[in-house]
Amino acid sequence: MANNDKKQMESSSKLLNWIDERFPYTETMRYHITEYYASKNFNIWYVFGVLAMVVLVIQLFTGIFLTMNYKPSAVDAFSSVEYIMRDVEWGWLIRYMHSTGASFFFIVVYLHMFRAMLYGSYKKPRELIWIIGMLILIVLMAEAFSGYLLPWGQMSYWGAQVIISIFGAIPLVGEALVEIIRGDYSISDVTLNRFFALHVIALPLALVALIFVHIVALHEVGSNNPDGIEIKEYKDQHGIPIDGVAFHPYHTSKDLVAIIIFLMIFSVVVFFAPDMGGYFLEYSNFEKANPMATPEHIVPSWYFTPFYALLRAVPDKLGGAILMVLAVILPLFLPWLDRAKVKSIRYRGWIYKMALSLFVLSFISLGVLGVLPAEGIYVLLARISALFYFAFFILMPYYTKIDKTKPVPDRVT
Ligand code: HEM
Repeated sequence: MANNDKKQMESSSKLLNWIDERFPYTETMRYHITEYYASKNFNIWYVFGVLAMVVLVIQLFTGIFLTMNYKPSAVDAFSSVEYIMRDVEWGWLIRYMHSTGASFFFIVVYLHMFRAMLYGSYKKPRELIWIIGMLILIVLMAEAFSGYLLPWGQMSYWGAQVIISIFGAIPLVGEALVEIIRGDYSISDVTLNRFFALHVIALPLALVALIFVHIVALHEVGSNNPDGIEIKEYKDQHGIPIDGVAFHPYHTSKDLVAIIIFLMIFSVVVFFAPDMGGYFLEYSNFEKANPMATPEHIVPSWYFTPFYALLRAVPDKLGGAILMVLAVILPLFLPWLDRAKVKSIRYRGWIYKMALSLFVLSFISLGVLGVLPAEGIYVLLARISALFYFAFFILMPYYTKIDKTKPVPDRVT
């Protein structure tokens, strides 16, 4: 080793010692990264957690730069976004990355949640990871909803109008609640200001804090795996799980490949189809909000349409609202609804496989129906889909108990 290299190593280990005497740097790195053992059989479904973190960083970073040029007022908001798109250096890229990031956040998080349903990751001892995840989802929805009002386009205005008015259906307190949310008798500058405050500071803070707790809870019990086996039960003489490999470098190197592929797909959308045919950026949102002109079809962003379809599937406003809220809340109880003795779908019987497939189909069909007008056959189809959606949860304690499971091996396959 050259003398220079030796000197450099000595000084960096000196620096490390200096830090470690004052802050548990090496200990934290070991516990969470270099000596965090996760199953060696992770598959593609295990990359979406990391990808969600990548999207979070993209959103925080681009959000900061958007805020530097955006004006949260009913008079200036729309034109400040146009200014960002046309006059701010790289403003178009920052804005498209942020709007595309919002959609990708939901794609990644929905897939991440589906993985947990495939491999029973919400079951004991990971109930808390799942519950925190559900809280993350709810905050993420609030974050997306509040952000959508900010460009002050037609759909921003009328989408908010429809969703906020749902709260009015609550008996007794509804109307008062709507006024508190709007801060005014109609959606106005005041509403825009408070949504801005929520979107740029309150909700991102909550999101980051929840994700931190999500990971702490995960590292306390350890990751699940596609076999749904607890790898901690088989350890070698050093106390290391035999079927585990260190998160770094073994999983980080695989994650890096996923991140690169993800960024390639993300870039294709940002550069070639940022509006994604009107699904990532609705066309009527390129028009300034006009409280005097209601658009013909008011549709929320695609990631909310499954829930929007449920809202409209019931003729009664309160009934629809209850159904919509239930649809978001019910998955929270999965750890207790699922009575199966095995975790992974690999060892479950045909009933769960069918139930999960029908659930996915119902979610997708509700999503499609949420975009279409609520009339004729579409309403009927939404009601049938709603039936399958809720049956998945409500009948779960029963069908997971009678479903014939296969024997689970001791070690991962
Ligand atoms: C911003 C959103 C989120 C981020 C950044 C995030 C991050 C992560 C990461 C990095 C992991 C470990 C790697 C992996 O297993 O993929 C993980 C695991 C997990 N997450 Fe999330 N997550 C998010 C949202 C959610 C949501 C919405 C849910 C469910 C409602 C959820 C449920 C879980 C579960 C159950 C695990 C453990 C999976 C296992 O060990 O098999 N997460 N999350």
